[in-house]
Amino acid sequence: MIQFYHVSKSYDGRQQAVSDISFRVKKGEFVYLTGPSGAGKSTILRLMICAETPDDGQILIAGRNIARLKQHDIPKLRRGIGVVFQDFKLIERKTVYENVALSLRILGYSEEVIRKKTGHVLKSVGVYSRKDSYPLQLSGGEQQRVAIARALVKDPIILVADEPTGNLDWDVTQDIMALIKDIHAQGTTVIVATHNREIIKRMPKRVLHIEAGRMLEQG
Ligand SMILES: Nc1ncnc2c1ncn2[C@@H]1O[C@H](COP(=O)(O)OP(=O)(O)OP(=O)(O)O)[C@@H](O)[C@H]1O
Ligand SMILES: [Mg+2]
Repeated sequence: MIQFYHVSKSYDGRQQAVSDISFRVKKGEFVYLTGPSGAGKSTILRLMICAETPDDGQILIAGRNIARLKQHDIPKLRRGIGVVFQDFKLIERKTVYENVALSLRILGYSEEVIRKKTGHVLKSVGVYSRKDSYPLQLSGGEQQRVAIARALVKDPIILVADEPTGNLDWDVTQDIMALIKDIHAQGTTVIVATHNREIIKRMPKRVLHIEAGRMLEQG
């Protein structure tokens, strides 16, 4: 599903944020990306979602070399990847419902389909009752559920989460990870960057360990 071949990336042209990284994530797999702060976890995820381009190496997503994608193919690729961040990145002046519906509006779905899909996904993550609230009226855990709903509403084949529980306390962290586990159980390929060892211990999955831009082990 995802293949990195000898991928390197530097932001300033000197120090490499990631160097010569190779790994493979199979369809339907659940993988943790771990390592200390500054190791290159977010960089790898940004390369995966085409938010950065590699200086060297090749990245294949669902069998396609993303360096060779035409400009108009990039939105199609992005549609297949749901992304969740540590700081939720919700639009504060839009309701929960509108935050989730927005990506479907951009894709040009009819109002009826938007209502069905948005309602369904908000129910599935447990925040339907808050659909008319604004993000800042919700707890951190609820905001992350909304962000996950927004990632899922496009029926992605891959879910990428960058420290999804970094701003949440332990109880809420466990709830959010249980939700991500359910999403994985439904067939979605999942990549979670985290430096929280407790999560990995409680919910063991394959671990890719990054340190100083290099991959140390592929569990
Ligand atoms: N936009 C940027 N411009 C310049 N350097 C950057 C940029 N983003 C990241 N870096 C550098 O690239 C390296 C890898 O950063 P990255 O954000 O990928 O690490 P990380 O493993 O996600 O860290 P954290 O656990 O703190 O989120 C670091 O040395 C960082 O300073
Ligand atoms: Mg990071």
